Amino acid sequence: MASFENILVEHDGPIATITVNRPKSLNALNSTTLRELTQAVREHAEQARAIILTGAGDKAFVAGADISEMKPMTPWSAREFSELGHVVTALLEDLPCATIAAVNGYALGGGLELAVACDMIFASENARFGLPEVTLGVTPGFGGTQRLVRLVGKLRAKEMIFTGDMIDAKRALEIGLINGIHPRESLLAHCKTVAQKIATRGPLAISRAKRLVERGYDMALRAANRQEAETFALLFDTEDRREGMAAFLEKRPPKFQGK
Ligand code: CAA
Repeated sequence: MASFENILVEHDGPIATITVNRPKSLNALNSTTLRELTQAVREHAEQARAIILTGAGDKAFVAGADISEMKPMTPWSAREFSELGHVVTALLEDLPCATIAAVNGYALGGGLELAVACDMIFASENARFGLPEVTLGVTPGFGGTQRLVRLVGKLRAKEMIFTGDMIDAKRALEIGLINGIHPRESLLAHCKTVAQKIATRGPLAISRAKRLVERGYDMALRAANRQEAETFALLFDTEDRREGMAAFLEKRPPKFQGK
């Protein structure tokens, strides 16, 4: 496993916790950090059953893309920078394991875009969410105009994107942007509990369910439902399915092997 400059990785059985570690700049994403994040996520794609993403320190998850790195960029280098963000966010959606964002403070711009590419978002009471790119004269660049709309709808997304205003955790929960709010001290523990629970479920079932949700979103309902029926049927030919159903009937916990 590689060692990183701006990323910390901690393993706890089937759970990997990846922390963006640039607290002096509120964990802003520069290109090195984006590349390291991509590499860390890739390295854990196979073995981890769940990946938790969070930010170092007690102020920020990620306060956005790094504005000092962006300031001198030309359109071409900005395009390349944007691609780095798109690579890691698409990767999070494509991974077979579950991803959970533990938002422990500001999740702004690229930070919010990173969070909304995860499967679930839990936030601390002090979390703040926003897409302030227009205050800098640009649009969101890591998928914010697309993923936020899909989560909270056009009206709410446009309000956030056009004003650049932040919303607090309570409002984020109200509009369906996050799964839940937890005290800052217990946020990570809560995310680990959810991750541990997911790790006890059928791995093939989780990865296929994730793929169905992600791919189905862009498909017509009939075609997406057909894909679901096919996946459901295919899983009947797996050890995990036999084990899961036998364990239920024998009144014992299942031992899934991802086969
Ligand atoms: N990039 C670079 N540095 C950043 C940063 C960012 N996104 N956010 C914060 N920092 C730095 C500050 O410059 C400051 O550094 P110094 O101590 O060297 O001055 C340090 O982090 C602490 O920040 P503040 O002093 O500003 O802290 P605060 O508590 O007063 O304010 C804040 C906190 C409201 C989050 C404020 O820092 C802020 O507004 N940050 C910028 C947020 C932003 O605009 N994010 C979007 C970036 S654009 C983007 O993400 C594009 C995209 O979609 C790809």
